[in-house]
Amino acid sequence: MGMKEDEKILATEAFVKDNMKGYDSGHDWWHIVRVRNLAAIINEKEGLADPFLVDITALLHDTVDSKFRTRNDGKEYGIIAEFLNNADMSPISERVVNVIKNISFSNKNQTEQVPDPLLWMVQDADRLDAIGAIGIARAFNYGGFRNNIIFSPDLANADEKLNTGYHENSSTISHFYEKLLLLRYRMNTLTAKKLAVERHKFLDIYLKQFYKEWEFATGLK
Ligand code: ADP
Ligand code: NI
Repeated sequence: MGMKEDEKILATEAFVKDNMKGYDSGHDWWHIVRVRNLAAIINEKEGLADPFLVDITALLHDTVDSKFRTRNDGKEYGIIAEFLNNADMSPISERVVNVIKNISFSNKNQTEQVPDPLLWMVQDADRLDAIGAIGIARAFNYGGFRNNIIFSPDLANADEKLNTGYHENSSTISHFYEKLLLLRYRMNTLTAKKLAVERHKFLDIYLKQFYKEWEFATGLK
């Protein structure tokens, strides 16, 4: 006798909460809730996957995060596969793990793009949560967690020239150029592209106001 879908969801929620202790608060349970709901909204419009699969994948998408783990050789995803097998979800295990491995923008172990609509939608949901007012809050929260500075005019030139690639000791404002401002153009689905417009605009508005206040207070150009 197998588990019902709602039992599988409950088991997954408990597993995720248990595994995310110690993450920064931009990666907390509410990030998971938002990504889960955004992914469901995208899937309602796009209709590309089974809603149950979308839910399970969104719930598990940050369970293994390279930024918070010492192990980083690909094998760390075994705990997700093990969980899915134990919770009566072995038929979906391989697909879900493969999608999760490839979701992260910053994941260096990425194989080539997986042609799976499940990936496109959960990735879009994750990216939407990284931009807009919430994305800004998460960036500064993560920057604080890493003890990064808010902004430095010395790094600003590098921002303009480089606009990409992570550099150590970069500021959180640099992170806008390295990642946040690029996400709008990386949305996979049309639904997410539309949802990204307002959030992206808010990043521009925020940066403009930030520089205005910075220049007013420092007199630097
Ligand atoms: P992914 O969603 O692909 O896992 P990350 O884990 O790299 O992306 O990022 C998760 C959150 O942390 C995002 O909101 C992202 O903007 C933020 N973040 C990641 N790296 C930095 C950084 N160097 N400075 C500020 N925020 C960061
Ligand atoms: Ni995430």
